[in-house]
Amino acid sequence: MSEPTTSGSVTITLDGTNKSSSAPLVQASVGPAVADIRKLYADLGVFTFDPGFGMTAACESKITYIDGDQGILLYRGYPIEQLAERSDFVEVCHLLLHGELPTGPELKEFQHNITTHTMVHEQIRHFFQGFRRDAHPMAILCGVVGALSAFYHDSLDINDPRQREVAAFRLIAKIPTIAAMAYKYSIGQPFVYPRNDLSYAENFLYMLNAVPAEEYKVNPILARAMDRILVLHADHEQNASTSTVRLAGSTGANPYACIAAGIAALWGPAHGGANEAVLKMLGEIGSPENIPDFISKVKDKNSHVKLMGFGHRVYKNFDPRAKIMKETCHEVLAELGIKDEPLLDMAMEMERIALSDDYFVSRKLYPNVDFYSGIILKAMGIPTHMFTVLFAVARTVGWVSQWKEMIEDPAQRIGRPRQVYTGATTRDYKDVAARG
Ligand code: ACO
Repeated sequence: MSEPTTSGSVTITLDGTNKSSSAPLVQASVGPAVADIRKLYADLGVFTFDPGFGMTAACESKITYIDGDQGILLYRGYPIEQLAERSDFVEVCHLLLHGELPTGPELKEFQHNITTHTMVHEQIRHFFQGFRRDAHPMAILCGVVGALSAFYHDSLDINDPRQREVAAFRLIAKIPTIAAMAYKYSIGQPFVYPRNDLSYAENFLYMLNAVPAEEYKVNPILARAMDRILVLHADHEQNASTSTVRLAGSTGANPYACIAAGIAALWGPAHGGANEAVLKMLGEIGSPENIPDFISKVKDKNSHVKLMGFGHRVYKNFDPRAKIMKETCHEVLAELGIKDEPLLDMAMEMERIALSDDYFVSRKLYPNVDFYSGIILKAMGIPTHMFTVLFAVARTVGWVSQWKEMIEDPAQRIGRPRQVYTGATTRDYKDVAARG
C-alpha cells in the first residue's frame, strides 16, 4: 500500500506547558479523515485512551466501507444491496480477496480454485473423533480450523504470495466442509463429502442435510437465501473478530491459526453469537403478551438483560443488511409455506415496540443483521447451535482478505496497544512470614 495522502492537521496542546503536537490528517477516499497521532508520545509524553478502540483506526484498508449514520455498507465500493440482489457469494469472495469483480474467465478459474479445495485431508475425519459428541460446533470449528496448520505445511510461509493464495483458497473452500462435519458429528450422522458440481451455497446445504440412505435435492430458493446470508456476512471492516485476525496475523502467525483466533472472537454473544442469542431470547419470552415485561427488563440497567439482535457499534440509523435479511426472511417463510410462525410474529412485534420506545430510539438502537438471520436459519431447519458456525463460514473470506491485505501492507507492524496503568506502584517483596 502506498503512503496515504495527508491534508491538514489537528494540533494537540498539553495544558500548562508550551508543548504541542501536530497530528497530520490522513484523508480517506470516502468518510472522515483520521488524525495520525504516531508522534504524540514523542512530542508530549502521553498516549491516547480509547477503550474498545471506538475512535481509533488501527490500519489502512481498501476492502469494506461502512457509514453507520447513513446505513451504508460497501464491499470494494459496491453497495451491499446490489451485491445481495445481483451477485453471488463466490463472485463476492473474488471481489473481497482480489479487489475487483471477476471477468467471465477469471470467475471460472476462481470457481475452479475454490471447488478443487473443498475436501479435507482424510486424516481430519479421525481428528473429529477426539471431540465429545455434545461439543458445541463452534468449539469443533475453532479446533479443526486451527489444526489445518498441522495438515497443510505447504501453505504456511506467509511471505510467499503463492502460499498465501493457496491458504486463502483452502480456507474459503474447506470451511463449509468442516462446518458441516461439525454438525453431522454433533447429531451422530455420517459425514457427507462435498460435491463440486454444486454452487457454494448448494454444496453447503447438501453437506448439512444429505444422508447416504436417500437422495437429497437442494431447494433453489433456500440455496439462494443461504447465498444471500453468506454475501451479507462476508466482511464488515475492523469488527472484533477481524481485528483479532489482524492482531494474531501481525505476529507472523500462520493463516489457519489466525482464522481460528477470529472464530473464537466471533463466538461471543455480543458479536457472532447474537443470532443464536436472538432465538434463545424469543424462546424464553414465549409469547407476544410477555414482550412488554421483557422490554421493561431490558430497560432496567440492573437486570443486565439486552435486547439481542438490536444495536450496533457502528450502525446508529439502520443496518442495511437487516433490511435485506427481513425481505429474505419473508421469501423463505413463503417458500416453506410457513404462514403463522410464532417466532417471526414475536420478532415483528418486538421490532414494532422497540422502534417506538424512547429508550431504543434515543440510543439509536435498531435491529441488526442477526435479528432476522436467526429466524431464516430456523425456518430452514438449521439448529440454533449452528447459527454462529454459519456466520463463521461466511466471514472466513473477509478475515482472509483482511489478513492478506495486512501482510501485503509495508506499514504493517506487530499490533501492540498501550494501557493506562492504575495498579500498585513499586513496592518491596515481603517473605510470607512477614505478611501478617
Ligand atoms: N439492548 C438494550 N440496551 C442496549 C442494547 C441492547 N441490545 N445495545 C445497547 N444498549 C444500550 C446500552 O446499555 C447503552 O445504554 P446507556 O447509554 O444508558 O448506558 C447504550 O445503549 C449504548 O450502548 P453501548 O453498549 O455503548 O453500545 P456498543 O456500541 O458498545 O455495543 C453492541 C454494541 C455490543 C452490539 C450492543 O448493542 C449489544 O450488545 N447488542 C446486542 C447483541 C447483538 O445483537 N450483537 C450483534 C451485533 S451485530 C454483529 O456482530 C453481526
